[in-house]
Amino acid sequence: MIEVSNLTKKFGSTISLDSVSVSFKEGDHVALMGPNGAGKTTLIRLILGHYNPDSGKVLIDGLNPIKNRVEVLQHISFVPQLPPPIKLSLDELINYVVVSSGVKKQDIYHYAKEMELELIPNLTKSFFKLSGGMKQKLLIAISLAKKSGITIYDEPTANLDPKARENFYRLLQDGRTEKISLFVTHRIDELKKIINRQIYMDLGKIVSDEQV
Ligand SMILES: Nc1ncnc2c1ncn2[C@@H]1O[C@H](COP(=O)(O)OP(=O)(O)O)[C@@H](O)[C@H]1O
Ligand SMILES: [Mg+2]
Repeated sequence: MIEVSNLTKKFGSTISLDSVSVSFKEGDHVALMGPNGAGKTTLIRLILGHYNPDSGKVLIDGLNPIKNRVEVLQHISFVPQLPPPIKLSLDELINYVVVSSGVKKQDIYHYAKEMELELIPNLTKSFFKLSGGMKQKLLIAISLAKKSGITIYDEPTANLDPKARENFYRLLQDGRTEKISLFVTHRIDELKKIINRQIYMDLGKIVSDEQV
C-alpha cells in the first residue's frame, strides 16, 4: 500500500506538487495522466524517495522511502522516463541486478527475448551506447523479471516502436496480479485492458481520480 498525504514539493518558486493526498492499494492498476509539467514525475520520484518533500509524507507499506530506502526499493520495479546514463556493459549491468536485487538471470533473459531484445550479441556493449529503444526494452525486461509488489512505469513506451509496445502490453496483461502498478502515460487507449483507475493531474494537483 502506498499512502501519500498532503505532499508538497517546490523547486525554487515552482510548486511541482501542491498538497497531494492519494493512496494506492493492492489491485490498483493506475494510469497517471496530465499535461507536461503537471507533477507526475515529481510524485513518482517522491514515492521512490528520490527527494525530500517540503511538507507532507509518503509511506510504502508503512515505511518512509527515504529513511528505509533499501527496504522500500526491494519491493518496487521502476522504469524511468529517461534511461539513466549507466556506463556498465549489459553483462555487468545484468550481473549487478542479479546480485543486488536477487532477480534471476534466466528471467531477465526470458523477458528480453519476449521484448525481442537480443542480449547475447550485445553483452559487451555499454548500456550507455544502446539505442533508446534497446535501453527501454532492457529496463522493462529487468522490471518484469523482478516481480515486485509495486511496479512504476514513467512513460515507458516513449522510445518503443509499435511492435515493442504491443509486446510490452501483452506481458503486462499476462502478469497482471493483485499488486500495484502505476503508469504515467499519454496513451490511454493502449492501456485500457490493464488499468482500472485513471488519475489526472494538472498544476501539481490531482484534478480527477476515477475507477474505469
Ligand atoms: N529537479 C527539478 N528541478 C527543477 N524543477 C523541476 C524538477 N523536477 C520537476 N521540476 C518542475 O516541476 C514541474 C513538474 O514537473 P514534472 O513532475 O516533471 O512534470 P510531468 O512529469 O507531469 O511532466 C515542472 O514545472 C518542472 O519544470
Ligand atoms: Mg514526467
